[in-house]
Amino acid sequence: MTAGGGMPSRTAPRLPGGRVPWLGHAAAFGRDPVAFLRRGRERMGGDFSFTLLGQPVVFLCGRPAHEAVFRADEAVLSPREAYRFMTPVFGPGVAYDAEPEEMSRQIGHLLPALTSRSLAGYARVMEEEAESHFAAWAERGEADLVEVMNDLTVAIATRCLFGTGFRERMGPGLPRLYHDLESGIRLAGLLSPRLPLPSFRRRDRARAALSATLVRVIAERRAAGPAGDEPQDVLAALMAARTPDGAPLPDETVTGLLIGMIFAGQHTSAVLAAWTGVLLLDDPVRVAALVREQEDAIERDAPLDVRALRRMERLEWCVREAERLHPPLVVLMRKALRDFRYGGRLVPAGTLVMVSPAVAHRQPEVFRDPDHYDPSRYGPGREEHACPYALIGFGGGKHRCVGMAFAYQQVKIIWSVLLRRFDLELATGPHVPDYSTLVPAPRAPCRVRYRRRCAPLVSVRLTEADR
Ligand code: HEM
Repeated sequence: MTAGGGMPSRTAPRLPGGRVPWLGHAAAFGRDPVAFLRRGRERMGGDFSFTLLGQPVVFLCGRPAHEAVFRADEAVLSPREAYRFMTPVFGPGVAYDAEPEEMSRQIGHLLPALTSRSLAGYARVMEEEAESHFAAWAERGEADLVEVMNDLTVAIATRCLFGTGFRERMGPGLPRLYHDLESGIRLAGLLSPRLPLPSFRRRDRARAALSATLVRVIAERRAAGPAGDEPQDVLAALMAARTPDGAPLPDETVTGLLIGMIFAGQHTSAVLAAWTGVLLLDDPVRVAALVREQEDAIERDAPLDVRALRRMERLEWCVREAERLHPPLVVLMRKALRDFRYGGRLVPAGTLVMVSPAVAHRQPEVFRDPDHYDPSRYGPGREEHACPYALIGFGGGKHRCVGMAFAYQQVKIIWSVLLRRFDLELATGPHVPDYSTLVPAPRAPCRVRYRRRCAPLVSVRLTEADR
């Protein structure tokens, strides 16, 4: 076997240990996937292979490997086969359960709801949700950052995706339903997402409840009249979308894509928002600079718009640095359907290929002093993120996250409101990731102490036309 007719391709060396037949390295990986992958790489001096629940895995790291994986032909490296465990969330025939061309078409239907014009509309919703959430805070007190960010991203995602009224309709159990959906992300899902596990049963119940209400909302909107009068939310965009032969999308596709977006985007955004705060609040001098930036970027009590957000450059660097140090998705996967070669490396057909934003973002050859929190690395003259396939918290290539701008905007708006309205300091620490889930938030307790600096912005009230 040769790569490009030159040197023979070599398979990645096998990580010693993990001798328990079939289980392989599952215990160590399950305990802390990032430490496991980092240690394995140090020990093996680069790429290596191991076994997870009977599945051969190869871990690849470094910009050339990321580029090769993200740009590989899907007939060779398949996200579909790697993410089969998501089928119960998206539903049959939707996203990863569809053929690659159909999945691209389906993702394409989401894009009109994620244009800069749509994002400008969501900015108002995001600000309103943040203002009304924090208006309920006392004059001073303490709050759990992970819980706050979770509540807020539930509220924002629900309104931007499903429109107004959905949250009230679902009642106070909605955050729990979103949380249960995520029970689909379990190592056991690699084996079969249909195993009779309690967490998988909760996932299926949550999906069924969301889907039943969504189908009713779709029917009501259809009965209410033409899409032009609909609020600007992702549901409206999907209802306006047409298949190649001009038919509306089937209800199962619309509900599957919406529920899939909640799954992909809500908790991940909450975790990014929590880490952004934990890291930026660690230094009062930095907080003072960020507050000054807010004062320069936006007139007191003016509504937040996209132009003001663009002026919050330092805040954006802080979000990026949180993405780098604590990416919400710690591993991304593809399944090799055929032998895959890049450089001198051979990955045999049948292998699960893993890359890890969490490991990749700590490479000293890519990021200077990589364990050090330093948002200015993205500033003029350094721009360490500009290097292709270096910062991969939102993936890369064809399957790069379509919700990245939405997520960044949301996190920036939440922190813009917090920084303008409150004096803040961490009440707990040091904070470490809770790797018991594959979307690791800061481990509890993760609390901030706050004192209100100025009154909540009451003038931000959306009119029907704004929505
Ligand atoms: C901090 C928040 C988020 C993070 C860290 C994140 C991360 C990612 C990553 C890494 C991928 C690529 C997966 C791969 O290649 O294996 C991805 C894909 C995707 N994300 Fe996000 N995401 C976030 C928020 C969102 C939001 C808010 C939405 C929806 C509005 C969303 C929708 C999607 C979709 C639909 C895909 C699949 C794209 C495709 O395969 O073509 N994500 N995301």
